[in-house]
This record gives sequence, C-alpha cells and structure tokens, in this order.
Amino acid sequence: MDNLKGKTFVVTGATGRQGSAIVHHLIQGGAQVKGLTRSPQSKKAKRIAAFGAELVTGDMNDLNRLKTVFQGASGVYSVQNPYTSSFAAEVRQGKNVADAARATGIAHIVQGSAGFGEKTGIPSWDSKLEIKEYMQSLGLPLTVLRPTAFMELISDPGFYPMASTFHHMPKLMGADKKVTWLAIDDLGAIAAKVFNDPQKYIGQDIKLASDLQTVNEVRELYQEVLGRKAPHFPMPEFMFRLFTGDDLIIMWKYLRTANYDWLTTDATLAILPEAQTVRTWLAKQKG
Ligand SMILES: NC(=O)c1ccc[n+]([C@@H]2O[C@H](COP(=O)([O-])OP(=O)(O)OC[C@H]3O[C@@H](n4cnc5c(N)ncnc54)[C@H](OP(=O)(O)O)[C@@H]3O)[C@@H](O)[C@H]2O)c1
Repeated sequence: MDNLKGKTFVVTGATGRQGSAIVHHLIQGGAQVKGLTRSPQSKKAKRIAAFGAELVTGDMNDLNRLKTVFQGASGVYSVQNPYTSSFAAEVRQGKNVADAARATGIAHIVQGSAGFGEKTGIPSWDSKLEIKEYMQSLGLPLTVLRPTAFMELISDPGFYPMASTFHHMPKLMGADKKVTWLAIDDLGAIAAKVFNDPQKYIGQDIKLASDLQTVNEVRELYQEVLGRKAPHFPMPEFMFRLFTGDDLIIMWKYLRTANYDWLTTDATLAILPEAQTVRTWLAKQKG
C-alpha cells in the first residue's frame, strides 16, 4: 500500500486481539509500527515484535507518555478494553489518546469502536461514543470503525464461547436474530486500508460486518464445516454475570428488539472484498 510506506503508525492495544491484527496488516502494507504495551517482555509483545513492530512501553493512563510516543507518527489506532479495566478507565484512556493526538498533530486517528453509533444504554458501546464525541470536539481527523461481533466469539476461550455465544447470546437476543460478524484479522486489513487512504476515510463512521448469520445458522455451519457440534454449556445467568459483568447481558437483550436491518455487508466488502464469511472463517479453524 503506497501511502503507508515510509510512515510510522502508533497502535494502542497492540498486543491484543484487535491491535495485533492491525500491527500485522500495517507492517505487511509497508508501514513502520510502534506497538504500545505496558509489558514489552510479555509473550504477546514478543509476537508483535516478531512481525516487525517496535515495542514502546506506555500506559494509556499516562498522557505525557502518550505525547512522547506519538511524536512523529502519521497515524494512531485507538482501542481500549473496558472489560479488563473499567468503563470509566476506557473513557479516560480514550480521551488521553485524543489529547495526545491533538497535542502532537496526528494526521489521522482511527478509533476501534463497536455498536451502531447511537446511544443505547449498553456500557461498552456508549463509552466508545463518548470517546468519539470527545475526539470530534477536539477537531481530530477521525475515522471510526465499528465491528459488533467478532467471529472469534465462536472459538476464542477468552470469550467463553460455550456459555456465551452458544448459550446466553441466543437465549437473550434470540437464536434466529442475525448477528453482524467480522473476523478480527479482517478488521486489521480494513484499518490498514483506511490508514492508506486518509483523504477518503477521514470523517467516516463505518459499521462493519462481513457476514450476517443467526446463532442457529452458525451452529449448523459449525457442524458442517468442523464436523462436530458447537460447544454448549448451560451456565445460569447469575454465574455468567459473575464472569463477564452486565455488559453482554444488556447488549444481547438490546439486540433482541433492536432493528438493524439496514446493516448490510456492503460497506465492509467495498473496503475489503475478500473479507471472510463465517463459513470461510470456520474452515480456517480446522485442525
Ligand atoms: N468481542 C467482540 O466481539 C467485540 C466487538 C467489537 C468491539 N469490541 C471491543 O474490543 C475492545 C477490546 O479489544 P481487544 O479484544 O483487542 O482487547 P485485548 O485483546 O484485551 O487487548 C487490549 C490490549 O490493550 C492493552 N492495554 C490494556 N490496558 C492498557 C493501558 N492502561 N495502557 C496501555 N495499554 C493497555 C493490553 O496490552 P498490554 O497488556 O501489552 O499493555 C492489551 O493487550 C473492547 O473495547 C470491546 O468493547 C469487542
């Protein structure tokens, strides 16, 4: 990607699911990447260093450190995790990223967001909206990327798929309601394309989904492609709440009645025509 070459991008959350995919695709596109991490000695940090990222130590709670790290960068990918910090910390960290980007004159900031872009009462969506509004209030050159359900929810043990995706999600939102899926690797590819073409994407808020499948349909695909039943563990709701908090429960209850028929795969496929379907993604999980 011609516009990435010779440029440096800072990726926050670089050792995480989203961040590592973004690091990978930016480097593949010819960019230099500074991957922000609190623990440069960790296994996950070493993995992104092996892709070719420069590891930079920093905490998003530390505004001055962010300003130092952002010096000279052409763009910043901003993502925070409220589940491992808190919703208040997510907003504080996102605002710090915004303040540092403003202070250092970052030419393009891409926010890794979620949801449909309106206030819903879902804590992890509203927190990201608050960060977006703050970024806009500073006049930052912003693109918002909004995935809603990562395909990794189907298999990543960190997401408790047996109890969450194949039990509570269908119970709360309905097994026949479409889920708006996107693979995390495709988010990385899309972010790299967005950074490669700032003129086109600054000012855009893009709702991402490369496949729309209900949980029942995913169960059938799982059986068909992987040759075994999707895992299922009927955990009581109070126990699930103890593990994961209220956010997912509120989100899936909201999705039961929400109308998001307008959300198609068109915007995603226009950026990344080869974006995966649940079927092609499952096929990669074989073995
Ligand atoms: N699950 C879904 O389907 C879905 C869909 C859409 C959006 N989302 C959103 O995705 C976000 C989480 O992204 P993810 O899955 O990529 O998270 P993740 O895998 O937990 O990665 C987050 C990274 O952030 C870094 N980090 C945490 N606290 C930090 C701090 N104070 N300062 C600097 N770095 C810090 C950690 O790296 P170090 O430990 O190396 O510092 C960690 O590797 C959430 O906001 C969630 O709402 C999820």
